Amino acid sequence: MGNTFQLKTEEGRVALEGVSVDFESHTMKLVGQSVRQNQPFKRSLKNVKSVLDTTCGLAKDSFFMLNLGCKVTALERHPLIYELVVDGVSRAKKNAKLSVLFENFHLILGDAREYMQSMKEKGQRIDAVYVDPMYPPKDTSALPKKEMQILRSVLAHESHREEEIKELIQLGLEVSDVSVVLKRPVWAEPPLKPMASFEGKMVRYDVYKKS
Ligand SMILES: C[S@@+](CC[C@H](N)C(=O)[O-])C[C@H]1O[C@@H](n2cnc3c(N)ncnc32)[C@H](O)[C@@H]1O
Repeated sequence: MGNTFQLKTEEGRVALEGVSVDFESHTMKLVGQSVRQNQPFKRSLKNVKSVLDTTCGLAKDSFFMLNLGCKVTALERHPLIYELVVDGVSRAKKNAKLSVLFENFHLILGDAREYMQSMKEKGQRIDAVYVDPMYPPKDTSALPKKEMQILRSVLAHESHREEEIKELIQLGLEVSDVSVVLKRPVWAEPPLKPMASFEGKMVRYDVYKKS
């Protein structure tokens, strides 16, 4: 997994090709403030107080859910990406305001499918399971943001895996009491038929519930 990539410490932060996780940044501030708007992500999480973020990545969505007031358990299986988030969280915990939020954050290195299997075996439940896989490839000349370009090259092995997404949704339905929420670009077909969808300009949140 991404053997050619190495973490470096730059200006007191752990970075991967110049990308680090900084919950004090302007971008994350905007993420935090956006919970005040009635936007699609928020609407997809109605009645949700605890979430399993199965695809933590750089933890922007986890941060949004923490700002919404949810308790978040986040799984990241790529060790380098996991280390970026560990570093971001350790700095956030030194900030008085953010440290309160991060009391509700639990980050785990591992595959979310195995984690949900073990939840099932132990009879553990959560309100919602959130899934944000890498986007399917699209023919376009527009380059994604630097952060996304790095993620794409580190996770080159992880292209469009519909079967795995279905597995995450199905396992999610078995351990969640409220819903499973899947984030997809608006142009991508849902891998399974959702019960409801909340669409923004670029992305859509598909909501699944046990029938
Ligand atoms: C598109 S990124 C998620 C971005 C994230 N929502 C954010 O706000 O930064 C997908 C991430 O999920 C991780 N991932 C994908 N499938 C996973 C699984 N089954 N278990 C744990 N992590 C997974 C990948 O390693 C990658 O870092």
